[in-house]
Amino acid sequence: MRIRFLGHACVAVDDVLLFDPFLTGNPLAAARPEEVAARYILVSHAHPDHLGDTVSIARRQKATVISTNEVAVLCQDQGAKTHGLHLGGRHAFDFGAVRCVTAFHGSGVAGGHACGFLVDYAGKRLYFAGDTGLYSDMQLLRDPWGPVDIAFLPIGGNYTMDAEDAALAARWIAPAVVIPIHYDTWPLIAADPSRLRAQVEQDGPSRVVILQPGENYNL
Ligand code: NI
Ligand code: MN
Repeated sequence: MRIRFLGHACVAVDDVLLFDPFLTGNPLAAARPEEVAARYILVSHAHPDHLGDTVSIARRQKATVISTNEVAVLCQDQGAKTHGLHLGGRHAFDFGAVRCVTAFHGSGVAGGHACGFLVDYAGKRLYFAGDTGLYSDMQLLRDPWGPVDIAFLPIGGNYTMDAEDAALAARWIAPAVVIPIHYDTWPLIAADPSRLRAQVEQDGPSRVVILQPGENYNL
């Protein structure tokens, strides 16, 4: 499995899964939207820094957008193929199962919800938190929903958890690896991922992998 961090909260897994493809207008973007390949695009919510280039990539790649129902309908209305889920729901796709999990955040679309994703792919379990504040039910991601192999956690603060809260989330979730996202894109969400690393690795058992935009993590 090759995980590629494309900047802000955009993560590509092989050429199969693409999370929150905000590339156009993303100061940290490590790829142009026409350079990425995906069969499924998982969208945590419709704020522009997450929905981003979803529809144009989905249409060009004939990819399926997976999101909460209201966001899926928004994408469908713009010509994308979609699969709507909702909080607490789980569905088996051809690559593996996706559980739509809570995110405490706005959805960016009327009547909608933001979400995170717990994804089974290639024998690994990935947790993509999206934008969220810390909440104690994250402990479910360890047991009974886990174990989680890789957790993508926002650390930029202001709109989401900061590094301190993300370290607590990591303690609760206990993934093998934490990859910080959603920081340094703009001054308002500047954060030092080495502080997250120091805290998480002191608490144990997780390891923190810090990826620069464009960097890969293989496992
Ligand atoms: Ni947001
Ligand atoms: Mn955001």
